[in-house]
Amino acid sequence: MTEKKRICIVGSGNWGSAIAKVVGNNVQKLDEFETEIKMWVFEEEVNGRKLTEIINTDHENVKYLPGHKIPENVIALADLVESAKDADIYIFVIPHQFLPGVCSKLKGTVKKSSIGVSLIKGFAMKDGGGIALISSEVENTLEIPCAVLMGANIANEVASENYCEATIGIRNRDQGLLLKKMFQADYFRIVVCEDEDTVELCGALKNIVATGAGFADGLGYGDNTKAAVIRLGLMEMVKFCEKFWHGSTQSTFLESCGVADLVTTCYAGRNRRVAAAFVKSRKTIEQLEQEMLNGQKLQGPPTAEEVNFMLKSKDMEDKFPMFTAVHKICQGKLPVEEFINCLKNHPEHM
Ligand SMILES: NC(=O)c1ccc[n+]([C@@H]2O[C@H](COP(=O)([O-])OP(=O)(O)OC[C@H]3O[C@@H](n4cnc5c(N)ncnc54)[C@H](O)[C@@H]3O)[C@@H](O)[C@H]2O)c1
Repeated sequence: MTEKKRICIVGSGNWGSAIAKVVGNNVQKLDEFETEIKMWVFEEEVNGRKLTEIINTDHENVKYLPGHKIPENVIALADLVESAKDADIYIFVIPHQFLPGVCSKLKGTVKKSSIGVSLIKGFAMKDGGGIALISSEVENTLEIPCAVLMGANIANEVASENYCEATIGIRNRDQGLLLKKMFQADYFRIVVCEDEDTVELCGALKNIVATGAGFADGLGYGDNTKAAVIRLGLMEMVKFCEKFWHGSTQSTFLESCGVADLVTTCYAGRNRRVAAAFVKSRKTIEQLEQEMLNGQKLQGPPTAEEVNFMLKSKDMEDKFPMFTAVHKICQGKLPVEEFINCLKNHPEHM
């Protein structure tokens, strides 16, 4: 009998807490995993109490996932290195802007035989104009392989156990099947896909399109316009993968990580919601993030910035008009009313 795998969840926001519920319940029924799961919590005070204490006593993350119980075998810890000690599987689920700090603290402390799986959407910026996948940042800093799990997964709906799907992107089939066991539930169905990079790229890029969908909503356009935004956004996603990552399989875009995640975020996600409010309120994105999200983080605007950093350095901004327009609008460099005009001259229509 091989040793049971210890799991550590690095992060405890909206999605981190929902996935803690899914995995925490699963491991109670599976022989492959230790029942106790450590979850790293970025400590903060909520209603005069520490969030770790609330989670460990009331078994609910009242700030980021109120109304849903986290299983009692999930133990919240504020000490990152302590929570990560001796783990075999790391589930990375934090807003991507915090990853460098987290990885540098974990560097040199993780077991060489361990593996990671990133649920994080976004990119890391590299010196000289390029960007890197979040999973590569984990692999390079911690020197462990890192898979990804992406999909049409609004955290609150997953926590409510409404049927949905997700995609695991991983090149190692055996490890993929182990991760599938860990994540899959009767209401959360998983497909394992070897086209790992495309799975992750889809998850990151769709947040830019969702921000555009929010602008279209805020400007008062209807569903035909939103469908055009989604379609053109998907075309830019495909083109981006082909130009910069090579070797994408077209069918990956038809998985949950692709078209399904794109559709759900363009209708229901927080990026769409804040972008729509941006048009109406004329406040900055940063102000709205503060006012509307209660500590949750937006991924669309920073991802648009990261992608633009790369497109600009390669003189390719005009080849990706939606990605470019979303970035410039978020930065206050282009009036939001111009968003639809940017799409009218899309290379797709020429
Ligand atoms: N929420 C969803 O529905 C959903 C679904 C799929 C994927 N994702 C992705 O999952 C990732 C995590 O998102 P989330 O929704 O769990 O988080 P969130 O936006 O709900 O929460 C923010 C988290 O960041 C933490 N934090 C704040 N300051 C920090 C710091 N300085 N260092 C480290 N952590 C800090 C907070 O404690 C909190 O846990 C993101 O990449 C997101 O795109 C989210």
